[in-house]
Amino acid sequence: MNDDDERTGQAAAWAALAPVMDLVTPMAVRVAASLRLADPMAGGAVPVEELARRSGTDADALGRLLRHLVCQGVFAEPEPGRFALNELAGLLASDHPAGMRAALDLGGFGGQMDLAFTGLLHTVRTGQPAWETVFGTSFWPYLAANPQMSASFDAQMARGADYVLDAGRSHDWSGVRHVVDVGGGAGTLVAEVLRANPEMRATLVDLPDTVDRGRRYLAEHGLAERCEFAGQSFFDPLPKGRDAYVLGRVVHDWDDDEAVVILRRCAEAAGRDGRVLVIETNGGPGDDSAAFAEMNLRMLVLSGGRERTVEDYTALAAKAGLDVADVHSTPRGHLILECTARQ
Ligand SMILES: C[S@@+](CC[C@H](N)C(=O)[O-])C[C@H]1O[C@@H](n2cnc3c(N)ncnc32)[C@H](O)[C@@H]1O
Repeated sequence: MNDDDERTGQAAAWAALAPVMDLVTPMAVRVAASLRLADPMAGGAVPVEELARRSGTDADALGRLLRHLVCQGVFAEPEPGRFALNELAGLLASDHPAGMRAALDLGGFGGQMDLAFTGLLHTVRTGQPAWETVFGTSFWPYLAANPQMSASFDAQMARGADYVLDAGRSHDWSGVRHVVDVGGGAGTLVAEVLRANPEMRATLVDLPDTVDRGRRYLAEHGLAERCEFAGQSFFDPLPKGRDAYVLGRVVHDWDDDEAVVILRRCAEAAGRDGRVLVIETNGGPGDDSAAFAEMNLRMLVLSGGRERTVEDYTALAAKAGLDVADVHSTPRGHLILECTARQ
């Protein structure tokens, strides 16, 4: 191979890998979101100096950032030095209902979660979460010590919890007078279930700060009187004797041993007559989707959790003294495993 062939080969390899290896553009998009650059452009093109003044940044550096993004199809530059929204950049506006700006903000939970991936090599070498290596403390204690980040995490969970509509409205709650949402976050599912089932009552269990947010959320929706609030760990005994215990997107946060303890706490509290509902967004029969694969890696990097299949959940439930009595997929494709005490 001569020098020219070698260079052509290198260029082709860079081009072929570019869509999956580039860190420049994903970081640039996050910086644009963090600086809320789309907002001042709502009324039309804005000179870079004005954007720099409003965002407290260096005009030369900001110009380079925006020009790179223009080349990647995010933002437009209708005349030199003036930047405007295009379709993709419009998605980064703070008031866009998709909430992408907040999700990408490097100062919020979504951004921190992405930065945790700078420790991916550590995770793959050791099998341990990268979070602690990158941020100095493991995932849950980090959130507990950073109230702002914990609030951002709760907000992101609430935004992403589209399964609550299915679980609230189309799940058959017959026979359930009182549901306990274990690790229920800031109350999104509880609110939806109470709204759709006016006779039901609920208990929200989560860590104290999150339960306080849930209390406020339910009060704002006029539902707090039908709800009890337990700011506690789900590794401790749970309120006993209710009809149903929900674990919504909780089990996948934990490794097998911890997941069994949480399931066992639910089984003990549910007793012989109650049921435990495990709700997860992945893992239906034969789930070999990209979403499963990505989330499986993500959970390991963040908190040491994992995505699981129905068979995996069934095996965990058995270790916690539970049988899986029913498995169904919701209209939006989430998985609900209904477990009862092992006979
Ligand atoms: C992935 S979020 C899911 C929240 C909610 N169920 C949803 O689907 O939006 C996991 C929840 O577990 C809670 N959590 C973590 N560790 C906990 C613990 N030791 N005891 C109680 N809740 C805990 C977190 O605060 C968070 O709300």
